[in-house]
Amino acid sequence: MANISSQSDITHAATLLAQGKLVAFPTETVYGLGADARNEGAVTKIYAAKGRPSNNPLIVHVATVEDVRRYADISAAWNPAVVEEWITKLAPLWPGPLSVILPRGKDIAPNVCAGGPTVALRIPRHPLALDLLKAFKGPIAAPSANPSMYVSPTTASHVKESLGDKVDYILDGGPCEVGLESTVLSLLTPIPRVLRPGAITLDMLRHALGCPVEGPLSSGESLSTELLSPGLLAKHYSPRTPLKLRTSLSKGELVPHNTGALIFSDWKPDFTPAVTKVLSTCGDLEEVAARLFGALRELDTAGLNLIVVDTCEPIGLGEAIMDRLVRASRRS
Ligand code: TXA
Ligand code: MG
Repeated sequence: MANISSQSDITHAATLLAQGKLVAFPTETVYGLGADARNEGAVTKIYAAKGRPSNNPLIVHVATVEDVRRYADISAAWNPAVVEEWITKLAPLWPGPLSVILPRGKDIAPNVCAGGPTVALRIPRHPLALDLLKAFKGPIAAPSANPSMYVSPTTASHVKESLGDKVDYILDGGPCEVGLESTVLSLLTPIPRVLRPGAITLDMLRHALGCPVEGPLSSGESLSTELLSPGLLAKHYSPRTPLKLRTSLSKGELVPHNTGALIFSDWKPDFTPAVTKVLSTCGDLEEVAARLFGALRELDTAGLNLIVVDTCEPIGLGEAIMDRLVRASRRS
């Protein structure tokens, strides 16, 4: 049972952040590994703790829509008036699992953005994250609190297991409600573009903005995705155990001895799984998303030779689920 952090833990965490230390904290999506986004030295520690390549920029967490405007430089946008209006239209989706890419404001340390001219900003909706932002009174740079390339953490113990003593303090807010990383939306071009799908779906964004929004690039275009957003590497979110999508197995294909199955529909494997994990008995995608990363971590410690995972239609939340599973199934 999680031991939920108290207000005095939050005050302590804010003090550590002000001293340039690393604090892991819950958000509604996944746990983040936080540092003061204005402190270059503190941000360097994030890259070191995760083993993250320095060309992969971090997301900055702020408390309010005014702070989104403050830590971006909207005057440098392709059309400041239009981008101002987009931010106003997106405001009802915050706090929530949406990060927007804007020109970087002068207060954000350059290494947060991998030295680039743009910054990702979001307002998380977990009450503990919001309380931490209020207590700290500044922007918090926080990637997911996992070693680079591994599955993102959705509980405080996931953080402890994989980053342990590399973090100065871990706030515990229980299991994450959404379970998948935020939608990343670029506002750098006349047609906004989703770079990473998440729980804020394309339809929700088109509806909020009242204009066309481009979807994430298809895998055939993944090279240019990497140029747009260096962090969106083809392989990501991967357990150490090899993983295959059930749709990539041919009918009757032999699987290795000790193969596990991760199920979230009425799929009945035609092999006998050594371990079976069912994420939702009714195909509820919100439930699947919330439990997916925890289940991958669990199967990864079960001594399996292969994990075969179920698939769903890549529509709505299913798009984010399939994005993560396809990346997890890549070998390089
Ligand atoms: O839900 C989330 O977004 C979580 C929680 C902790 O907020 N954070 C998260 O951070 O997933 P991270 O670092 O694991 O993923 C950030 C993604 C990366 O794919 C990165 O490349 C992209 O956002 N990104 C960050 N800044 C960017 C920028 N300036 N331009 C393009 N992509 C950017
Ligand atoms: Mg990550």
